[in-house]
Amino acid sequence: MLEEVQQLQSTAVGEIQAAQDQKALEELRVRHLGRKSPLRQAMSQIGKLPTAERPALGQVAGQAQKAIQQAIEDREMALRQAADAGCSLDVTLPGRQPLFGRAHPLTQLTDELVGIFQGMGFDVADGPEAEDEYHNFDALNTPTDHPARDLQDTFYLKDAGLLRTQTSTVQIRVMEQTPPPIRIVVPGRVYRKETVDATHHFAFHQIEGLYVDRGVSFADLKGTIEAMGQQLLGGDAKMRLRPHFFPFTEPSVECDFTCTICGGRNATCSICKGTGWIEIAGAGMVDPAVFEAVGYDSEEFTGFAFGMGLERIAMMRYGIDDIRLFLENDLRFTRQF
Ligand code: PHE
Repeated sequence: MLEEVQQLQSTAVGEIQAAQDQKALEELRVRHLGRKSPLRQAMSQIGKLPTAERPALGQVAGQAQKAIQQAIEDREMALRQAADAGCSLDVTLPGRQPLFGRAHPLTQLTDELVGIFQGMGFDVADGPEAEDEYHNFDALNTPTDHPARDLQDTFYLKDAGLLRTQTSTVQIRVMEQTPPPIRIVVPGRVYRKETVDATHHFAFHQIEGLYVDRGVSFADLKGTIEAMGQQLLGGDAKMRLRPHFFPFTEPSVECDFTCTICGGRNATCSICKGTGWIEIAGAGMVDPAVFEAVGYDSEEFTGFAFGMGLERIAMMRYGIDDIRLFLENDLRFTRQF
């Protein structure tokens, strides 16, 4: 009788461990622990045994019942965990390659340019995109009747203020807060009321530069921008300056570099259009009227400023033919850089 009960136990436990689902497990519970189960029947016989044999059988039967209950609980837990995992673990499956993020091409270019200027002793400064007319225009010597202030070029905000049209605003903000000398670059987003097409966008990016100290000359401007261009485009890139006009610099220039893609030898070059030159920056000596606005003594201090558009440089560098791609955040685009 004792061996029979032990046999019942090991059969039951074996079957329970092999149960494939909750339903099978429930059937086994009824079969092995239910009222009509062989174990319960064996237990009901205990009373009919001679008194001396009763305790031994009672103990073995009790142990068997516990062991079967435990086996059911264990199996239930295992089945539930497997269901939670969605499937059982297959250690032979090949691993999944995690996706790595990447810096946006404009961020990469910004970092590179900022690095070049930091190497020449410039600090990085920052300012607000929602500005007032004073910092965007008046303090930058741009009078009220200047065409750039036209509603057609500037996004004016509802109550007051505007979205800055140039990072030059930060020249003013930094000079208002800091006495000279100043040597800063300002990467940032600017806004203009443009009709969006492949080469124009209402939101784009600039890097501004400002250097103010005693005795800063046009030669410093030329040397700094040329050094930047050669680090950006390659050591053999040559610079030329064309006279230009900006309200806040005098004299003002536009800085072109030789096209390092075709060297000016390809009339159909998509970068320089066969001219051999690419326009990289606007620049000039800070106008005394700007110094006056921020309370600098223009007899004692001189300086130069420059500003460059990032999209056009990135488009040249990476062969991108549509400016809209920069702001669409399509991973198929950004993942290529
Ligand atoms: N702010 C000018 C622009 O947006 C660029 C510039 C900056 C020119 C500083 C001269 C000096 O076109």
